[in-house]
Amino acid sequence: MFSQFLFGPSWRENLVAPLTGDVLEIGIGGGANLPFYGGQVRLAAIEPHEGRAEEARRTAARLGLAVRIETAAAEQLPFPDQSFDHVVSSLVFCSVSEPALVLAEIGRVLKPGGFLHLYEHVRPRSPAIAALFSFVTPGWRKIAHNCHLDRPTVETLRACGWQVTVHSRRWVLVRMTARQVDANA
Ligand SMILES: C[S@@+](CC[C@H](N)C(=O)[O-])C[C@H]1O[C@@H](n2cnc3c(N)ncnc32)[C@H](O)[C@@H]1O
Repeated sequence: MFSQFLFGPSWRENLVAPLTGDVLEIGIGGGANLPFYGGQVRLAAIEPHEGRAEEARRTAARLGLAVRIETAAAEQLPFPDQSFDHVVSSLVFCSVSEPALVLAEIGRVLKPGGFLHLYEHVRPRSPAIAALFSFVTPGWRKIAHNCHLDRPTVETLRACGWQVTVHSRRWVLVRMTARQVDANA
């Protein structure tokens, strides 16, 4: 897969293995990250596509993991305020309908000082390739479940008041951590 080619086979492990406490994964898909969580997590997840949510539930059962997996979209998270220490998103922000609304929801369910951990593909830095990706995106979205090839996710996070640490970037793939800037700080 493209991600493994650019980031190596352990990118999923690097993303989730260090996490502890109450963790929410959004857009879990079929549960590809599940084998890499450590034993010290209380994990919940959401996935809007019922078939994929069911696949993730089967993956969790096969691995013997107790994970609450809700069929829901990240624009409306079915959890109370300040529920999680960490939120995980891998290859999801390209597909959500409203990135700013998703960030507001993640901010709502994170405990104070909590972190958002992301691995996402983003708009290319080269203006020429970015323009090409924007040209292709309307057609691509139709066959790739609303995946946008041109989302400036790092900039969107910052514009929405998140402090972003980029751990690594390889072409359009970025691994980063973000925390909400405290408005009272
Ligand atoms: C490319 S897949 C990535 C799946 C998984 N996170 C992974 O790393 O393998 C994108 C996922 O985002 C989900 N998704 C799309 N729109 C979403 C939304 N609004 N809220 C949450 N998840 C969404 C899709 O159903 C799909 O499972």
